[in-house]
Amino acid sequence: MNLLGGEELERSAVVANCRMNRERGLLGSNGYDRELGFNPLGVLKTLLGEGRSAAWLDLCCGSGKALIEAARIVHAEGLDVEVVGVDLAGMFRRVDPDLTCLRLVEASLSDWRPDRSFDLITCVHGLHYVGDKLGLIARAASWLADDGLFTASLDLHNVKISDGKPTGRRVAADLRRAGLDYDRRRRLVVCRGRKVVDLPHRYLGADDRAGPNYTGQPAVDSYYGSVS
Ligand SMILES: C[S@@+](CC[C@H](N)C(=O)[O-])C[C@H]1O[C@@H](n2cnc3c(N)ncnc32)[C@H](O)[C@@H]1O
Repeated sequence: MNLLGGEELERSAVVANCRMNRERGLLGSNGYDRELGFNPLGVLKTLLGEGRSAAWLDLCCGSGKALIEAARIVHAEGLDVEVVGVDLAGMFRRVDPDLTCLRLVEASLSDWRPDRSFDLITCVHGLHYVGDKLGLIARAASWLADDGLFTASLDLHNVKISDGKPTGRRVAADLRRAGLDYDRRRRLVVCRGRKVVDLPHRYLGADDRAGPNYTGQPAVDSYYGSVS
């Protein structure tokens, strides 16, 4: 199989698909709370107090709508919260100049690195388009604060191990062994607290001809070889 490298994948029509939903808000039927099962700002608010601040990093943030809505509340309520969003496409909504708590970064998550740790890291329907999904999960786990929370949408059917054995349950088991959880009902990978995640898989490349996954949109399969 002819697998794609990082730059080829990021130029692919599947990753640049203009029909994908980049417009989720913070709350409601097209909201982050529905996808994640919690309101991200609610989680951050529970951390505030006793002089503590909080920070939220959203990977593959799309237009940034959810982050802008959160930042407006942070600004209006005078909360000590920093919000950072990263997306390859850079198709961000306009940000009010007074929302100094918010930073939207146009970058590829294959090489972007943060300069701080985060209490909450989310990735809502972004991993479907990322080449090295397991690598990004491992990096995100390392960017958490000691008691931080990382949660990301993940379709295990889009992770392939090239030895031909069925992968779904196996990858979920590998994630659990590494100290993460996989919520099958919500299709979410979850990491509680900063972790060094060492998975026994070596990234080989991506296939953008995988077809639609559970979202109904064409997604990217990520291929791995076993590390023995
Ligand atoms: C389906 S959208 C989801 C956007 C947002 N999280 C939402 O739910 O509204 C997926 C996003 O992933 C971004 N993306 C895909 N590959 C990426 C990469 N390697 N680095 C950063 N962003 C990426 C795309 O540009 C797109 O905006």
